[in-house]
Amino acid sequence: MAVFADLLKRVLPSDKRYWNFYAPVLEVLRSSRRYNTLVSEVNKQLDLKPTDRVLETGTGTGNWAIPSCLLAGQVVGLEFSPAMVERAQRNLAGNNNVELRQWDLEKGLPQDLGVFHKAVSVAVHGYLKNRQQLTTQVAQALAPGGIFAMATPCLGAKFLDVLKAEVRESWQTDTFPRFVLKCFTKLPLGTVAALVFGGIVQLKAKIGAAHFYAKDELEAEFRQAGLSVVYSTITYASQYLLVVGRKN
Ligand SMILES: C[S@@+](CC[C@H](N)C(=O)[O-])C[C@H]1O[C@@H](n2cnc3c(N)ncnc32)[C@H](O)[C@@H]1O
Repeated sequence: MAVFADLLKRVLPSDKRYWNFYAPVLEVLRSSRRYNTLVSEVNKQLDLKPTDRVLETGTGTGNWAIPSCLLAGQVVGLEFSPAMVERAQRNLAGNNNVELRQWDLEKGLPQDLGVFHKAVSVAVHGYLKNRQQLTTQVAQALAPGGIFAMATPCLGAKFLDVLKAEVRESWQTDTFPRFVLKCFTKLPLGTVAALVFGGIVQLKAKIGAAHFYAKDELEAEFRQAGLSVVYSTITYASQYLLVVGRKN
């Protein structure tokens, strides 16, 4: 019985072993045009400066931090899966302005982080139970006027819409013969990973193992944390919600 319970825990995103297993898949997202579009949208809102100290909750393998640490002064990343941290360390090696800490966000933020100008979270908070508490603590860690950008899977997401958007995008950027060839030979690995991952997240949400925010709900969470909502949109084939708050 105990073995069965342990097995069940492993397939839930509240367990770091689930994320250890996903580390190689997540790393491939870096080559997904869809994911990188989302990163650009987030970073447009963050307007990173070389003087900025930035907090990232749930760094994963470093998909956001790899391009973004080049624009910021310092990035502090918190991540609980050892396999993710190991890959992030490898992917970010040589960037002296990145500090990675293995940390379980269900405990809130570490006490000794200091003050940040910006904070970011991409596809993380929906997996946590202490969502409001964490958003409040992130807001508290910001200097006045600091910005928090959160991108998270949302209720509008429909797997088929995402697939259609991928096809439309390829259709627009490739000639017809090249598009057909690509469909039959190789879809970019990043696209496949994004689709598989998106589908799995949706399944998890259906069984209550992940939380899909509604737009109003996340905006209310930001306000409750002491952040004014300065930007809020549902983006990329309705799959992601991007909410940006400024500390009052
Ligand atoms: C979907 S991935 C996104 C990773 C990264 N932000 C990105 O955009 O590629 C979610 C990440 O949140 C991390 N995570 C989930 N629960 C966590 C927790 N309680 N504490 C710290 N990290 C957590 C996972 O290990 C995983 O790396």
